Amino acid sequence: MIRSGASSAIGIDLSPTMVRLAQSLSAEGGLSGRASFELGDGATAKLKKSDVVVLDAVLCCYPDFTSFVDNSASAAGRYYVFAVPDDARLLTRFMRLILPLQAVVFRRGSFRFFIHPTARIRSRLEGKGFRLVSKSSAGWIWSVFVFGATGAA
Ligand SMILES: C[S@@+](CC[C@H](N)C(=O)[O-])C[C@H]1O[C@@H](n2cnc3c(N)ncnc32)[C@H](O)[C@@H]1O
Repeated sequence: MIRSGASSAIGIDLSPTMVRLAQSLSAEGGLSGRASFELGDGATAKLKKSDVVVLDAVLCCYPDFTSFVDNSASAAGRYYVFAVPDDARLLTRFMRLILPLQAVVFRRGSFRFFIHPTARIRSRLEGKGFRLVSKSSAGWIWSVFVFGATGAA
């Protein structure tokens, strides 16, 4: 987004490894002065107000989508964008049926994948004054949703 014209960007992640990786990638790309990355929980941290908030394949790694959407959307001045496994898509619906198997497959670790109800995310955002601006498919299971704040160009 900085390369496309954003003046600065802040990234936040629960994982120290991801924060370090993002820092080194942005340094390699010459963006260190304008991009910063912090350890934190996007569902609870006090977030700086930004024109655009992006959750790229993040909601699906967190159990409580309501608090995450509420907290992160409160930081979005103009656009709120997220990519999720889309439960309106056929293959994603099938995947949701087999999600309980994770308890067996990942029994040693704490990683869990969630398929949250996109209609509920949408109505939550609409209740906060956002409207769906665009939705596009990515691969077989993902969709990218772009919501605009009322009055955003
Ligand atoms: C599948 S990865 C996607 C990372 C990156 N957006 C990408 O597309 O490469 C999901 C990331 O979301 C982070 N995450 C999950 N819940 C989070 C939360 N509540 N606050 C901040 N980061 C979170 C995880 O730590 C993980 O790094």
